[in-house]
Amino acid sequence: MSETRYPRIASHKSVHAFRDHLHSLGLRIPVDESIDPAASSPLAQPLIWKGHTIGNRWCILPMEGWDGTEDGRPSPVTRRRWNHFGQSGAKLIWGGEAVAVCHEGRANPNQLWIRPGTEREFGDLREELLRAHRARFQRDDDLLLGLQLTHSGRFCRPNRKDRLEPKILYHHPILDRKFGITPDYPVLSDHEVRRIIEDFIEAALLAWDCGYTFVDIKHCHGYLGHEFLSAVDRPGPYGGPLENRTRFLQEIVQGIRSEAPHLQLVVRLSAFDLVPYQKAEDGRGIPESADGDYHYGFGCDPRTPTAFCLDETVQFLRLLQDLGLDLVCISAGSPYYNPHIQRPALFPPSDGYDPPEDPLLGVARQMEVTAALKGMVPDFVFVGSGYSYLQEYLPHVAQAAVRQNWTDFVGLGRMVLAYFDLPADVLEGRPLKTSQFCRTFSDCTTAPRNGMVSGCYPLDPFYKGLPEAKELRSIKGRLRNRA
Ligand SMILES: Cc1cc2nc3c(=O)[nH]c(=O)nc-3n(C[C@H](O)[C@H](O)[C@H](O)COP(=O)(O)O)c2cc1C
Ligand code: SF4
Repeated sequence: MSETRYPRIASHKSVHAFRDHLHSLGLRIPVDESIDPAASSPLAQPLIWKGHTIGNRWCILPMEGWDGTEDGRPSPVTRRRWNHFGQSGAKLIWGGEAVAVCHEGRANPNQLWIRPGTEREFGDLREELLRAHRARFQRDDDLLLGLQLTHSGRFCRPNRKDRLEPKILYHHPILDRKFGITPDYPVLSDHEVRRIIEDFIEAALLAWDCGYTFVDIKHCHGYLGHEFLSAVDRPGPYGGPLENRTRFLQEIVQGIRSEAPHLQLVVRLSAFDLVPYQKAEDGRGIPESADGDYHYGFGCDPRTPTAFCLDETVQFLRLLQDLGLDLVCISAGSPYYNPHIQRPALFPPSDGYDPPEDPLLGVARQMEVTAALKGMVPDFVFVGSGYSYLQEYLPHVAQAAVRQNWTDFVGLGRMVLAYFDLPADVLEGRPLKTSQFCRTFSDCTTAPRNGMVSGCYPLDPFYKGLPEAKELRSIKGRLRNRA
């Protein structure tokens, strides 16, 4: 099992031992010896972007909880998570969580959905986060907060948690098979694509009315925006050459700009992808075999589809620059078909597989891609992702990464579900609460895959006390017995 295959992070008892382990894996990610006080820490340096001062280099990555109301409004549990994000100490909040632009585009029946009539709730959600931030840090003028807008494309489940209702742009030879899409299943028409573009524009204008400073036009994780980038086989204006595959984004940007010129626009991008993975007999993840070259991964090498290739990614970033966008959050792949590259973890989610590599390789891959892109497109501001697996050494690597210009911001996902004020503890020089470290148990992914709300069941007392915690334990027990 994975537990014995790769050493746990906590087993490295010092920075030196951790560095030795990285070297034994051939990894060159930077690790600082000790954590600097805020006065001299690169993590505490403000960054000015488009006239906004962002007070430090921590960013909270978007994370949804599958806990909105059926008509798409935030619930008290949603507000609790946003309140934690506000208390975290991070000064850049990248979108809070994925918010659908239309009902059919929701990833689950409880995904947030912004539409006319819900402005007050989305404004209150923003205010909840800002209030929590002000209460703890006495100011919010240096906090930047946006909303992530999404359409879930191939992974829509708007009506039932257990029923995919995919909206696809082309027939993908492996993903169609994996998710039961038949060859005659309809592909979104150009007319339907244009309706979705209008939905994005309308949602962005509502976000602006609610006070959000920016919106993220999500292009990651296998959802619709990301699928456009690999629509090489799609005929017509939205497929084929990269110019066409980015037309969706270009039309959304133009539409928003003409109505809300002061709303800032950013993109979260799966900067690279690999071929989908599947579970082998021994439980480990192995790549699915592609017949011939594999053309369906944006940022993937077609001849070696287990490796990335950044040629088109760089072209994409240059196109964003032409559109006046220069802030990007780098992510990778998809949690549905190659989760190990996006959420490096020792323990897989229930629909996943044991890690095919030491999860540190997954962390290093995202960091190295971010650093390489930063070198190639230096005028951009970058947020990196995938750091949670570093656990005890997260602050040492984060500090070194910003110091050595591998990234501008360090994005935190799972770690803040488990330990929401880690950034504040690091910056204020308090001892870290190691008992709250995310140990990558993947319960926050396993729960929604089985129809439950997401959250950190092993460590957050609120989730520990829910009836779902018991159900989750029994699902995991059944899976262990089957293995
Ligand atoms: C429960 C959960 C929900 C997530 N929801 C979103 C989301 O709504 N939008 C998004 O772009 N990424 C989402 N992600 C991905 C994270 O933002 C992040 O990229 C990933 O967890 C890797 O970062 P980490 O190692 O710090 O966890 C989610 C991840 C988790 C674990
Ligand atoms: S459930 Fe908690 S410990 Fe497990 S991966 Fe998610 S945040 Fe980390």
